[in-house]
Amino acid sequence: MKNPSISIIGLGFVGLTLAVINATKGFKTIGVDNNKEKINSLKKSKSDFYEPQLDTKLRSAINSKHISFTTNIQEAINNSEITFLTVGTPLKKSGKIDLRFIKTASQQILDAIHSKKKYQLLVVKSTLPPLTTQKMILPVFKNLIQSGKMDVVLNPEFLREGFAIKDLLEPHLIVIGAYNKKSGDFLEKYYRKFYKKIPEIIRTDLGSAELIKYANNAFLATKISFINSIANICQTIPGADVNIIADAIGKDPRIGSLFLKAGPGFGGSCLPKDLMGLISYSKTLSDSSKLFEAVKDVNDLQPKRIIDLMKQMKVYNKGKTVSILGLAFKKDTDDIRETVSIKIVKNLLKSGIKVRVNDPMAMQNFEKLFGKKIKYSKSISSCLKNSDCCIILTEWDEYKKLTENIFRRNMKTSRVIDARRILNPEKFSKIEFKALGLGDKIISINVSKYNELT
Ligand code: UGA
Repeated sequence: MKNPSISIIGLGFVGLTLAVINATKGFKTIGVDNNKEKINSLKKSKSDFYEPQLDTKLRSAINSKHISFTTNIQEAINNSEITFLTVGTPLKKSGKIDLRFIKTASQQILDAIHSKKKYQLLVVKSTLPPLTTQKMILPVFKNLIQSGKMDVVLNPEFLREGFAIKDLLEPHLIVIGAYNKKSGDFLEKYYRKFYKKIPEIIRTDLGSAELIKYANNAFLATKISFINSIANICQTIPGADVNIIADAIGKDPRIGSLFLKAGPGFGGSCLPKDLMGLISYSKTLSDSSKLFEAVKDVNDLQPKRIIDLMKQMKVYNKGKTVSILGLAFKKDTDDIRETVSIKIVKNLLKSGIKVRVNDPMAMQNFEKLFGKKIKYSKSISSCLKNSDCCIILTEWDEYKKLTENIFRRNMKTSRVIDARRILNPEKFSKIEFKALGLGDKIISINVSKYNELT
């Protein structure tokens, strides 16, 4: 089998990364998106979001002439054997998943395959609620599938923003969900060409493939809400530190150390959305949504814990100025979707507190939301200038290097809340320092209180 030609429909962070890496590996690749502006800037080697190394790789893919971009699905289908569908499946206000883009793209793909002679493999990578493929996608293509002109396979994606290229090049797993052997084999062959050292592949049915993706993200969300719940307990115990507890329990191989970092709660375009999608689906089944709802409730309450720390510091008052360090939902991205900083800033503004913010990547996106309501500071020190309290909300590497001095030099009153647990509390003894999941310092052992307990 020679290298198959590829088309990718939907150029978000999964679709664009896949397109660029396919092209740099020598596969002829066509990227499709219905956003003309996006396509025009991609043709000029510019992506509309930040992902480490992506722009450089995009430039070399364009120079190699292995990649092209279009808004025309027909053109893409005509010139490719495998089509990846990577359109978004956002959350509706009702809490259900919006499958509009899947529906529209499926219809256009159907029309395009109709007027093509050769066989087409449609690989759905978008995250879908259980049964979507069987109830919504397959019926669209039923006749073409029965006539042997095409097949649909599911191939969920586990890329993380900020690590998209690395995760694509070194995935821990490939999942292929298929209703027949031929289509699954075709996709597996493509992956055997794509990877020199093939990762583990799980071949399964469509329903399991859909649920693997939801279960994966829901489990990650569960780990985070679990450790955040432990963090909240730590804050009531003098001397207790959630980082030490996470480190200890993470050494148990049955638990594992990853995704046990306490913080302001999980955000981003995936974990909150997929958890909500799973809740909506399992609510239709008796009692199956209880655990997922608890995970969501814990996450929704996490920003309040930060406000509580401000209240303890007596700084949650009208007229005060708060400096926020970090707006992106995590480091190494400019993405502010479902980021906790939006919730915190809205809350502070509502209470008449003035807000100044800093972020190495996400300020422009934040400005689109908050406009002139807050002040945007290019440097950390100007963000801290004369403020009453600083809250660290994203774990950017430059914030990890901060020392006590910068706060003491610039702030009106040096009060710091480390909501990401990136600073060593022992090095912040001369200022008022609080952190999520950190009990107050033990000043002296109070024997009479101990006796009361026993
Ligand atoms: C997540 C999954 O990790 C990917 O495997 C998946 O492919 C992707 O969703 C998706 O469905 O497309 P991503 O949204 O990029 O990836 O972000 P994560 O790295 O998972 O972080 C999500 C949130 O959890 C962030 O706000 C992060 O700060 C927070 N988090 C993560 C914690 O608070 N503690 C942790 O220990 C880990």
